Amino acid sequence: MSEESSKLGGPDLREGIGFDTLPDGGRVAGRVGDEPVLLARRGDEFFAIDAICTHYGAPLADGLLVDETIRCPWHHACFSLRTGEAIRAPALNPVSCWRVERRDGRVHVFEKLESPAQPSTQDVPGTPRSVVILGGGAAGNAAAEMLRRHRYAGSLTMLSSDDSGPYDRPNLSKGYLAGAAPEDWIPLRSPEFYKAQGIDLKLNARVVAIDASARRVQLEDGSSYPYDALLLATGAEPVRLAIPGGDLPHVRYLRTFADSRALVAKALTSRRAVVIGASFIGLEAAAALRARDIDVHVVGPETIPMERILGPEVGSFIRKLHESHGATFHLGATVVSIDERSVTLKNGEILEADLVLVGIGVRPLTALAEQAGLAIDRGVTVDAHLQTSIPNIFAAGDIARWPDHHTGERIRVEHWVVAERQGQTAARNILGRKETFNAVPFFWTEQYDLAIAYVGHAERWDSCAIDGSLEARDCAIAYRREGKTLAVATIYRDLESLRAEVAFERGVA
Ligand SMILES: Cc1cc2nc3c(=O)[nH]c(=O)nc-3n(C[C@H](O)[C@H](O)[C@H](O)COP(=O)(O)OP(=O)(O)OC[C@H]3O[C@@H](n4cnc5c(N)ncnc54)[C@H](O)[C@@H]3O)c2cc1C
Ligand code: FES
Repeated sequence: MSEESSKLGGPDLREGIGFDTLPDGGRVAGRVGDEPVLLARRGDEFFAIDAICTHYGAPLADGLLVDETIRCPWHHACFSLRTGEAIRAPALNPVSCWRVERRDGRVHVFEKLESPAQPSTQDVPGTPRSVVILGGGAAGNAAAEMLRRHRYAGSLTMLSSDDSGPYDRPNLSKGYLAGAAPEDWIPLRSPEFYKAQGIDLKLNARVVAIDASARRVQLEDGSSYPYDALLLATGAEPVRLAIPGGDLPHVRYLRTFADSRALVAKALTSRRAVVIGASFIGLEAAAALRARDIDVHVVGPETIPMERILGPEVGSFIRKLHESHGATFHLGATVVSIDERSVTLKNGEILEADLVLVGIGVRPLTALAEQAGLAIDRGVTVDAHLQTSIPNIFAAGDIARWPDHHTGERIRVEHWVVAERQGQTAARNILGRKETFNAVPFFWTEQYDLAIAYVGHAERWDSCAIDGSLEARDCAIAYRREGKTLAVATIYRDLESLRAEVAFERGVA
């Protein structure tokens, strides 16, 4: 693919391009009228789909063709070239397909085709008559949508203790907190969507007990819901700071839309923030608060931020990035107390603060699963089909510990895309598909103008090798254990990240 053609605006595809100008596996970004369209070739077949990802609008021409799919360069959504279906999250909406015609050695793209066909479903014996999804976050929402996408016709209830319907949680510490993303970008869907899909979404609906033998969940308000199949997707909650002053009103946590809204409101009148925790949430929030011109001090016990996950070079680079934007670090430090105006560190240092944000990690919400008698091991234990120790109960997202076939270990991660994909797989398995969850973990972080993508899972690694330059923001970092590559982080090398994902899927380490 040439530089030229990857830019939106490219060739007028109605006029066509020469058959031989596009090799097998090639693609070209062009337009039909005013609409950006991607033309791709697989063998002797040509496919045309919308050129823009339905998640955050990445140019799909910069993605990777894998069999009859294209993967998005930014957050690895996967679309079918043949049907336009968003096969894998984080994109939830399909892209349109366009009519392609070959005439006189040229390939032309004409009008948009009807909406993509939905995957067909024959009810497998044992399809549940009612499904309850416990949790209205990434996994719960993706599961509900997938059930209806597969034309599941039974009763479908999604119970969420949140006061908002499913929303784009990753945005809460990034664009939304920084003031760059407006309020209406945050909900994943409108209330009308759930109505139209026949998804009975109950908000402020806190489940307090699961009776696995009676197949019923009980809510705080005394009501209860029966189920044939249950999906647990309760996510995680922030770890609280148990120190004097830790419960003062200006000490905040960030998990929900309401948390982020309250932080934004507080930020409007704050001058100086102390962020406790130098990992993803803390650092993303620090960058967002700097964008609001708030004086930011980051406190963490480590000597290099994110060293354990990303390594010392990347960690030091991130620290310098924050410092170049005016943030100040207090590392190797812990907080012992907080009062209305300041935060006191163990070394005696006192940091002024009218806003304190605590981001010291999360704890999976497994109490209900435990009480229901499910097997628990630092998360809810699930098999490769995301089924718990009780066959008609599935679990997905931050709470699930599953057998990861890439590392050969049982793992639990806290990644948006993994939660959504697990929700999607669990939904298909609720319908009797027996699909193995084998997606490679993926997450991304954004801080200022830096985006890091990470594929794989390296809880422990013994070497990390950087190919390229951090300073130039053009590199890939491989994390290895005993010579085996377990994960790859990339900075502005999207294709390399996608290629690593495919390699991990195919067992090439
Ligand atoms: C601010 C922020 C930014 C993030 N940024 C990124 C990022 O950039 N990239 C990335 O990969 N990941 C990111 N994450 C992590 C990602 O959002 C989570 O991994 C993901 O949301 C997990 O999905 P889940 O469905 O398991 O849980 P959640 O999305 O947390 O949903 C859990 C749901 O369960 C409900 N619930 C819990 N208990 C009950 C109960 N008893 N009764 C009823 N309902 C209940 C909750 O109300 C909620 O609706 C971020 C997380 C946060 C908080
Ligand atoms: S923009 Fe395509 S997956 Fe996010």
